[in-house]
Amino acid sequence: MIRRWLVCVALACSATSHGVEIGDDVHTGVATCASSVCHGKLAPQRDENVWLNEFRIWSTEDRHSRAYKTLLTDESKRMAANLGLKNAHTAKICLDCHADNVSSEKRGRKFQITDGVGCEACHGGAERWIETHTEPGVTYAQNVAQGMFPMADPSERARICLNCHLGSRDQFTTHRIMGAGHPRLSFELESFTANQPAHYEVDDDYVARKSSLVEFSLWLSGQVDAATRYLDLLQSNLLSSAGIAPEFSLYDCHSCHHSMQDQRWGGIRKRQGLEPGGLRLQDYHLLMLRAVAGAVSEQDAGEMDRRIAALLRAGQKSYADIRTSASGFAAWLTDRKASWLERDFSSDQVKRIRRLIAQLGADGRMSDYSAAEQAFTSIESLSYFIDDVDAIESTLDKLFETVETEGGYSPARFRSACKSALARL
Ligand code: HEC
Ligand code: HEC
Ligand code: HEC
Ligand code: HEC
Repeated sequence: MIRRWLVCVALACSATSHGVEIGDDVHTGVATCASSVCHGKLAPQRDENVWLNEFRIWSTEDRHSRAYKTLLTDESKRMAANLGLKNAHTAKICLDCHADNVSSEKRGRKFQITDGVGCEACHGGAERWIETHTEPGVTYAQNVAQGMFPMADPSERARICLNCHLGSRDQFTTHRIMGAGHPRLSFELESFTANQPAHYEVDDDYVARKSSLVEFSLWLSGQVDAATRYLDLLQSNLLSSAGIAPEFSLYDCHSCHHSMQDQRWGGIRKRQGLEPGGLRLQDYHLLMLRAVAGAVSEQDAGEMDRRIAALLRAGQKSYADIRTSASGFAAWLTDRKASWLERDFSSDQVKRIRRLIAQLGADGRMSDYSAAEQAFTSIESLSYFIDDVDAIESTLDKLFETVETEGGYSPARFRSACKSALARL
């Protein structure tokens, strides 16, 4: 079932010299996967383990196959001109996320950069497994040992997807890139997995060969990876690399971008010890983990609240304060997140997490758009796991209306929708 995702208005990106390259294997190119005897069949082969029409699905329906072509559009040309780049489609900063931009020694004979985000950008360079992965009896673990990325593992998948969908020290959409016209990036692993046109099915044989992936573990792994990445970015040079001001895209977009008629200071911001008129760092992935902590341990939930408030306060003080606070937070999270990822959450506990997200919304903790958007998609994703989407459809619809457009976002409306939702969740 397709998840509603929010159509973001053009608003996110940055430039450094090295993109993220995972693994040392040569990328043989989409053409090596695409023949009609391999993954290029017209129709899915339901009696096989895999459909074998993956190439067709990717090339006709999946936006990843168009990611390079996007760099040739007028929108990208304008962005390149705004940034002083010769071309978007030859600029490393754009190619790192819009193609499988591995270094030249890792490009096989049939590799083409124009293929965009091809099979090997997600599945890993096929050099050592291209011949063997079709042999009968070869297991998934053996393929992985030969360099195939373990995309069936939620944490590994989160790492691969978020490299491009949130970014890292090495490839990032700075405020300069957003200011030049790049859309704001926002990501939630469970919904984006559901929204990527599926070229595989998690059926009995998949589960036997790989594992049974549940929506909850995807959601949690995505939140954990994103929060960890964000705390890492705050400790990086990126924070202070934009001249006289901090890197704006590490702050909450709406701490600057909202109408002056809409006064938002007070309430939670005051209680957190923030100054009026000050910048606010982003806390939305941390807030999702705050809900997880709340379902597990009151003490950890309280500690998260204190640490989130301290991080936001540090964001109004100095680079040194931010780095210290982010590194302390990251260290504190290390054991917690490992135990959350290992834990077998029951449906009742997931319900509690969902309720806590709505509670945080009702308490005014999601006063900014990105947090409200993440809260909505999370509530929806968790509802698929809890399996009551139909029963609470009108509640989800009402919440969705409050985040449907970024421009029309009102914190008060979202808060009251969360309060009403609590009665049903
Ligand atoms: C190499 C970078 C890269 C990786 C890895 C990657 N993506 Fe993407 N993804 C993109 C880019 C770039 C676009 C936008 C393509 C375009 O329209 O030009 C995109 C678009 C999407 C879209 C469509 C978004 C929309 O608004 O409709 C979905 C869904 C998506 N990705 C999900 C995923 C998931 C899930 C993963 C991991 C399994 C993933 N992506 C891995 C770069 C990447
Ligand atoms: C950190 C990774 C990253 C970098 C760097 C990056 N992009 Fe993107 N870009 C994305 C993702 C992911 C999307 C899809 C966003 C979504 O729909 O959720 C996207 C979307 C876009 C879109 C909108 C596509 C559409 O179909 O609506 C354009 C245009 C674009 N990028 C151009 C560029 C250009 C030009 C550059 C270089 C200046 C660049 N991007 C750098 C990740 C990146
Ligand atoms: C944006 C990321 C992404 C891209 C690009 C991508 N895949 Fe996948 N693919 C996935 C994910 C996620 C899964 C599910 C996890 C898994 O089984 O590894 C998957 C699963 C598969 C499977 C396994 C099905 C099964 O039942 O075991 C095959 C085969 C496959 N992909 C082939 C391809 C081919 C061929 C291409 C290129 C034409 C491609 N993929 C491009 C993300 C991607
Ligand atoms: C510290 C304040 C601040 C923060 C935080 C901030 N911006 Fe900006 N933004 C600005 C300023 C200042 C401009 C330049 C406005 C101008 O040129 O008129 C700008 C311009 C832009 C523009 C271009 C608009 C135009 O009129 O040309 C976009 C798009 C944008 N920002 C997106 C974002 C996104 C997305 C985020 C969050 C990830 C963000 N901004 C966070 C202050 C901020």
